[in-house]
Amino acid sequence: MQFFVDTADLDEIREASDMCILDGVTTNPSLVKEQGNVDFHEHVFAICEIVDGDVSAEVTATDFDGMMEEGRRLHQIHENVVVKIPLIKDGIKALRALDEEAIETNCTLCFSPTQATLAAKAGADYISPFIGRIDDISSDGIGLVEDIVQIYDTHDFDTDVLAASIRHPTHVKRAALAGADVATMPFETLLNLLEHPLTDRGLERFLADWEEYKDARKAEA
Ligand code: E4P
Repeated sequence: MQFFVDTADLDEIREASDMCILDGVTTNPSLVKEQGNVDFHEHVFAICEIVDGDVSAEVTATDFDGMMEEGRRLHQIHENVVVKIPLIKDGIKALRALDEEAIETNCTLCFSPTQATLAAKAGADYISPFIGRIDDISSDGIGLVEDIVQIYDTHDFDTDVLAASIRHPTHVKRAALAGADVATMPFETLLNLLEHPLTDRGLERFLADWEEYKDARKAEA
């Protein structure tokens, strides 16, 4: 399973990359906005220079021609760029056309299995079901990932399932169990995957015992 960070913050991306388990990055217009007055294309290039993996950058046009123009432009920034396309009618058409131009795509804003099936038929490289946002409306985000994985397996679609809108480690665990190919998460959630009180308590005990052992050795010398 691959781990991506869902952020446009260069410091976070550097820190995640330094952990040596980072496979890619996803961004969206809201995450770019959080970075303030940055040039979008230059910023995407800067991310690609940090991470040796796929970097999703989203189009903001909602018509076919506009998505194609933005998609081609984003693709030219760096070989790692994956063009993020919203799951709407013209988006489906753009997924197919970008696929024919050998431009990688990530189909975003997926909230149903039938949407995911259309995206796969159109040749999307990734489908992004938004787990957290589905849970927010009291529905079952992980259930959606399970359905998509089953449909893709049954019908031999080779679109990768990228579990998105992840909010906590349990989402990551359940997405992994459901067979998602990728989990993209905020940097804070990535760090939270490490946390366990018994690890902290165990390490504290080991280090204290080690000090006592060394003191005892010293006293006997
Ligand atoms: C996915 O690529 C999106 O950028 C992201 O996961 C959305 O997450 P949110 O629902 O926490 O905004």
